[in-house]
Amino acid sequence: MKRDVLSAVLLITLLCTSVLGTSCQNKPSSPTLSGTSSWGVSSGDNNAEGSGSTSSGTVAPTATPEPTDTPTPTPIPIPTETPTPSPTPTPVPEYIEPIIEGGPVWYNGYVDPRTVRAEVVSDPSDIAVLVNKYYASPSWYVPELVVAKYSDAQKLRPEAAAAWEAMHDACMADIGEDLYLISGYRSWETQTASFNNAIPRRGLDKAVCKNAYPGRSEHPLGLALDINIRSDPEIRDNFVYTRAGEWVLEHGHEYGFIWRYPQDYGHITGYGVEGWHFRYVGVDVATEMYENNIMTLEEYYGKPQLMPNEYNE
Ligand code: DAL
Ligand code: ZN
Repeated sequence: MKRDVLSAVLLITLLCTSVLGTSCQNKPSSPTLSGTSSWGVSSGDNNAEGSGSTSSGTVAPTATPEPTDTPTPTPIPIPTETPTPSPTPTPVPEYIEPIIEGGPVWYNGYVDPRTVRAEVVSDPSDIAVLVNKYYASPSWYVPELVVAKYSDAQKLRPEAAAAWEAMHDACMADIGEDLYLISGYRSWETQTASFNNAIPRRGLDKAVCKNAYPGRSEHPLGLALDINIRSDPEIRDNFVYTRAGEWVLEHGHEYGFIWRYPQDYGHITGYGVEGWHFRYVGVDVATEMYENNIMTLEEYYGKPQLMPNEYNE
């Protein structure tokens, strides 16, 4: 009996050793690393989320992680040096000194331009540039020019010529007056001759009132127009009081023109009344002057000419 018991115990011991040893071999010795063993079998103990085992005990494969693209490294911008802005040079005005020394000489309220110092304008090509006895255009400046319509081959800057043509046509359409350009661009040489000839012809006092010294006239800019009507191609002070002249006074700004030397403004412009002389300044400036009743370009820029009692202040 004792021998039977011992035999039974030995048999049970052998059976247990066999069953338990088989179970432990399936247990991985170390956790399966996600991504390194995608199809590796893992036990429920090693499935962290607990969703890999089926109810039947079959171990489900771990989902294959999508291979991720190797990220392209973002280039690191190389810092560039911030350029140091170079200081804008302040333009130094250039002047034309008087050729007759001893101070300004006045004739009936009009100064002899040869006796005053003038600043040379920095941009003579500016459509609205101010040129008078105190602001001179440089002798080298010759604008682009075209032959103007409704004239005897007079020349103007293209902008002024186009505006002149438009104004002429509008005046003709409106009131049937045929505007005519008597004098447009004048060269530096022509302007010099005009001033020099005027002195003996009409006297210095009248010459300084009506004739511009070279550089102090708007004609060499190609932007000045002496006008009348075709049937009376002469300069006339009363032009602005004619039907055609009144139309130009009322509508000239729509085309960019101003009456440049109005009656009673000689102390501001430096020139006596000229009923024939118009200036192209562009529609914006001309319209602003018209709407604000600004009669002269000097007032528009806040630069009326200096009178004798102001000159040395
Ligand atoms: N008559 C004007 C002032 C000129 O000669 O420009
Ligand atoms: Zn003129």
